[in-house]
Amino acid sequence: MGDIKMFSGEKIPLEMHKVRVVQKLNLPPVEARQQAMAAAGNNTFLLHNEDVFLDMLTDSGVNAMSDQQVASMMVADDSYAGSATYYRLEAKIQELFDTKYFLPAHQGRACESILAESFVKPGDVVPMNFHFTTSKAHITRLGGSVEELVIDEGLNPTSNFPFKGNIDLIKLRECIARVGAEHIPFVRLEAGTNLIGGQPFSLENMTATAKLAHESGIRVVLDASLLQDNLYFIKTREAACKDMSIRAITKAMCANADIIYFSARKLGFARGGGMAMSDKAIYERMKDFIPLFEGFLTYGGMSVREMEAMTVGLEETMDETVISQGPQFIEFMANELLKRGVPVVTPAGGLGCHVNAREFLSHVDAHAYPAAALASAVYIAGGVRGMERGTLSEQREPDGTEPIASMELLRLALPRRVFTMSQVLYAVDRIGWLYENRKLVGGLNFVEEPKTLRFFFGRLEPIGDWQEQLVKKFRKDFGDSL
Ligand SMILES: Cc1ncc(COP(=O)(O)O)c(C=O)c1O
Repeated sequence: MGDIKMFSGEKIPLEMHKVRVVQKLNLPPVEARQQAMAAAGNNTFLLHNEDVFLDMLTDSGVNAMSDQQVASMMVADDSYAGSATYYRLEAKIQELFDTKYFLPAHQGRACESILAESFVKPGDVVPMNFHFTTSKAHITRLGGSVEELVIDEGLNPTSNFPFKGNIDLIKLRECIARVGAEHIPFVRLEAGTNLIGGQPFSLENMTATAKLAHESGIRVVLDASLLQDNLYFIKTREAACKDMSIRAITKAMCANADIIYFSARKLGFARGGGMAMSDKAIYERMKDFIPLFEGFLTYGGMSVREMEAMTVGLEETMDETVISQGPQFIEFMANELLKRGVPVVTPAGGLGCHVNAREFLSHVDAHAYPAAALASAVYIAGGVRGMERGTLSEQREPDGTEPIASMELLRLALPRRVFTMSQVLYAVDRIGWLYENRKLVGGLNFVEEPKTLRFFFGRLEPIGDWQEQLVKKFRKDFGDSL
């Protein structure tokens, strides 16, 4: 389906749904926002949602459900073992992914934990296009390490390459030769690569990667959490797939993978997760962890209502008018920001709009967390909550040194079917104002730094009084506006 054209020639994303249930929002005054940010230790994860106007922290578990999904929740079969709901979900996964077995789990990182427990030994290396925070944390917790083999364009914020999540096949071949296939438990391919701006890989690249791995007897794991965006980009950007249905592209992708896992907080517009595979030995190896950590095999820690909604949501993911909504809104937001000179990752990807904080705050030292400082400033400027995706989201090395992230991004997620265009334009306006006043924004220092996944709970303070100066400038420019 092509875009809907406007007589005016203007390019606007058009919602292919109507809103029938709403949630009231609150926008506290700028002084209250500054106080809330201080109370949250300058960490947007620690804000209370009642203090947030537009919650662009994540797309995880906060996508809007359809009427069909809500209706399906009413017929969930609430039984511990053998629930009819489970068999409906299993059948939908088997149909869409063309796999034989399914293991349910309460969310994506539970799958990552079980995958790592099942396959990773100390000294192992897991090559991947790019890491995700929890996927890496589970591999390193078991003594393994990750190697990021994304193509060079993937780390260039303004490259126009359509598939910046592609694996560099030369680097993969070199990695296998150097490390040895026996020390590579699997190659992990992340659809809609989260930490580099929601960038997709092509079906062609995935197929070539799988071929290379399989030639050396190495398993291929697909992280399908952000599959829906990647499907849309394959359909619209990969010439060879132009005439394939979304369903056919899904099957072709899954045919390359030995294990497919996903967070249903993203894929399927619900909350939960799971792993699909066709190899009985792989299934048996992971199966016992489900009742141990998640729940019995027919619910895996999920609520049956969410499982019903997921079954419907997965089917809705096969509809291009549904999956186009996120990427089209994100592209609109990115283009509006670019018009105001704000540096964003291009081409626009899935999941959210990604602001290049390294360039936005080029005067802030890399160890003073520019993306976290920008997240703090954007909240103060407009009550908009984004997420730091940069150095703060990295782990320290075992010797305590702090690696500088290859990309320093502020992610403004657009949860699917949630925000309207005027809300997006409001966020753009406030970020545009902040860009004009960027020299007022300074860095942050840790006051409490957790050992693992420090971005979740870490507390920071501003270096100097830049937040007071920002609030003063806001009042000067916006008068008594909220
Ligand atoms: C690509 C990717 N993989 C895995 C996960 C982990 O999923 P969950 O949050 O359900 O644990 C996420 C979550 O954001 C993700 O984006």
